[in-house]
Amino acid sequence: MSVINVAILGFGTVGQGVCEAIDTHQDRLKEALGKEVKVRAILIKDPVKQREIDPSIKVTTEFKDILDIPDLHVIFEAIVGEEPGYTYLSKAVEKGIHIVTANKAMFAKFGPSLMEKAKRHTVSVGFEATTAGGIPVIGTIRQLLKVNEIKSIQGILNGTSNFILSQMRKKGLSFETALKQSQEKGYAEADPTSDIEGYDAFYKLLILSHTAFGRQPDWKDIRRRGITHLTAEWLQAAESFRLRFKHVGSLERDGFNRIKGEVEPVLVHDTHPFYGVEDVENAISLKGSLVGRITLLGPGAGKCPTGSAMVEDFLSLIQGKYTASPESAVHNGEVLEDSTGQWVLRVPANEDYQRWIPLFTLKDRIQLGDFLYVFVEGRKEDIESVLTSQEQIQAVSILDEIPLENAVKEGIAVS
Ligand SMILES: NC(=O)c1ccc[n+]([C@@H]2O[C@H](COP(=O)([O-])OP(=O)(O)OC[C@H]3O[C@@H](n4cnc5c(N)ncnc54)[C@H](OP(=O)(O)O)[C@@H]3O)[C@@H](O)[C@H]2O)c1
Repeated sequence: MSVINVAILGFGTVGQGVCEAIDTHQDRLKEALGKEVKVRAILIKDPVKQREIDPSIKVTTEFKDILDIPDLHVIFEAIVGEEPGYTYLSKAVEKGIHIVTANKAMFAKFGPSLMEKAKRHTVSVGFEATTAGGIPVIGTIRQLLKVNEIKSIQGILNGTSNFILSQMRKKGLSFETALKQSQEKGYAEADPTSDIEGYDAFYKLLILSHTAFGRQPDWKDIRRRGITHLTAEWLQAAESFRLRFKHVGSLERDGFNRIKGEVEPVLVHDTHPFYGVEDVENAISLKGSLVGRITLLGPGAGKCPTGSAMVEDFLSLIQGKYTASPESAVHNGEVLEDSTGQWVLRVPANEDYQRWIPLFTLKDRIQLGDFLYVFVEGRKEDIESVLTSQEQIQAVSILDEIPLENAVKEGIAVS
């Protein structure tokens, strides 16, 4: 059985969650992919910190060591801040390695350019874990709501601020005491600014906007307010009117295709699905042109939920769900599935007849954008340029999972 090689950047809460998810769910991954998933290396910052890592996994502080791993298919990124995450992922994409990230601060700013770069290098980007932890909202928009036009999105996107508001209301705690409790429970960072001032929710909203609407509004046009001005008295008074303060990020696209967004505390009525969303839970409500309003609820952070989001994302990516289908890659030929389950390309070879060229099996199609190289009359070409070129194709060889360098070395290429 062949192997899918992966590396993990960062071994904190999320990095450990990914490693554990791969380890504990190896059988399910094998069943879904027909391949073993092998963690080859982990990048960390502090070489002195004690960690429990399987000795077969290389642990390094040098990103170059990660890039040098032969046949590396996917990098999971779970480090903090815009840099060096962006630089590392850019280099990975340029090398033809797929990426799966949880880093919302980095992805809110650089996601659009990373996606663009990934497209040019025919690799895929998973970013489910950047928004609402374990709730599959990005996948829902990317894969399940393709015909629906998303009209609006609302979300309780930050578990820490939701926990603080819930505790203040239920126990009459001051903001400071509730914040301290959330830090003791490990929900809020030592510097909680990003959570309580709404930056974390703001980043997630931008990622949602790009996913649902294909673009972000101007950052300065999004009103952002945190929760620091709220008091237990206000929260409890609202409760007596069957209202609750929730910190909500919202996006709406108007009839002129303008996107309006804000992140702020709002009052929700007990008839609203967000009313009962308590403590560290997150919730997202999407309005689609066909489906109407749907609401997703679940854990917005934590080792297992975020590890789950990244590994599910990885599976979708390897299964080719984020890659343009072969049909859409073909402009001058026609791709059809033949009776044996093979995908074949019908190319007009001359005026008189049409040839059928075996293109790739369904399994190989999963690898599109991974290691898909074709050889035309002895020349290496990328699949897209071959399929879109006018010239006759003499021979096509698809080398499933074999990187070009190895293929040439091993003399597998055919002409
Ligand atoms: N925690 C969650 O529930 C959650 C949920 C969704 C998304 N996220 C996002 O996921 C990312 C990771 O979060 P986390 O909670 O796992 O953070 P964390 O516990 O603080 O861990 C961060 C890890 O990144 C490593 N690291 C930091 N800077 C590095 C650098 N320059 N080079 C190499 N390694 C570096 C650290 O190395 P050392 O171990 O050597 O210090 C540590 O292992 C963040 O972007 C966060 O926003 C987190």
